[in-house]
Amino acid sequence: VASNDYLGLAHDPRVRESAARAANQWGTSEGGSRFLCGNLSLYQQLEERLAAFLGKKAVVVHSTGFGANLGAISCLLTPRDYILCDRHSHASILSGCQASGARLVPFAHNSAASAARRLDRARGGNPQGLPFLISEGVFSMQGDVAPLPELVALKSQEPRLLLYLDDAHGLGVMGPGGRGTAAHFGLTRQTDFIMGTFSKSLASIGGFVAGDDETVMDFMRHQSRALIFSAALPAANLAAALTALEILEAEPERVERLWRIAGQVRDGFKQMGLDTGASCSTIIPVTVGDDLLACLVSKGLLQQGIFAPPAVFPAVPRGRAIIRVAPKSTHSDEQVARLLAAMASVAQRHGLHLPPRERPPINPGHR
Ligand SMILES: Cc1ncc(COP(=O)(O)O)c(C=O)c1O
Repeated sequence: VASNDYLGLAHDPRVRESAARAANQWGTSEGGSRFLCGNLSLYQQLEERLAAFLGKKAVVVHSTGFGANLGAISCLLTPRDYILCDRHSHASILSGCQASGARLVPFAHNSAASAARRLDRARGGNPQGLPFLISEGVFSMQGDVAPLPELVALKSQEPRLLLYLDDAHGLGVMGPGGRGTAAHFGLTRQTDFIMGTFSKSLASIGGFVAGDDETVMDFMRHQSRALIFSAALPAANLAAALTALEILEAEPERVERLWRIAGQVRDGFKQMGLDTGASCSTIIPVTVGDDLLACLVSKGLLQQGIFAPPAVFPAVPRGRAIIRVAPKSTHSDEQVARLLAAMASVAQRHGLHLPPRERPPINPGHR
């Protein structure tokens, strides 16, 4: 229960066959960047299909999700601008912000009120600069969801504000048919840029940014250094993502099943008295706190056949280690029952239902 392959499509025979067919037809590498020789027609098909799926006018695909954030953010902004950015943002977002040279203005995690205060202050000091706000749709460790309606509402305070949503963990999971967090809130149009990856629900590797201003998207296509100066995706990866997207569109019941399973897991953990934090997505962390204890809990689960690695600093703040549980829609009811039984016994052994000071001493030799 550790993978980001939320819909279990990485093992779907149709995805595997389409990747194998593409590799047989086009080879295993394009031998250069999209600009040089790697711009296969599959790129265009995938970009058009994704744009239609998301309800955006244009999509620019990069070779990784990391590269999409790095390349897009750094080319959209200049040192004259400023970026309001959620404090829990992914490293690739921060790298993009740093590379842009724009002033980084972090706001408290998932707090639109904090963003509003920071926006006010930053705007006062730099009335000419372009304001840009970045949040993730679903936060990958805590499984909590951005307060998108409140973030969009900041546009009434500052109409020039552009909103960039990293929906790496929302695509394929949130919203109608897995169309993502913006679709979940009915705010696709108001969300200026939607970023996503193929490395989670879409069973491949690669990343993209979607937007409605075709001139800006064309600019990105020609200015993103991570796109221009990096090798194009192999055909197999493009074909896998395209087929996964087709399956997602044709079989929305996969998304429904994922939510059903996640609901059972969350309810089960809560009944055990475990702390699942602010999670309201299909990522369900169990808060453990201590890094070593998290490793022991994870080891105890593994001994019962459950792979759920611990997330420790710097993936989470210091002293806030978790076991990150992320079910897939292809898990069976029997597997869900096994996970719950294993977690119940391990949690009981380590007193995870108790406040940290009342738990048994942490014993590294614990088996
Ligand atoms: C929120 C977020 N953004 C971007 C990325 C980068 O995506 P990729 O791993 O596909 O390069 C990740 C992946 O871990 C992520 O969790």
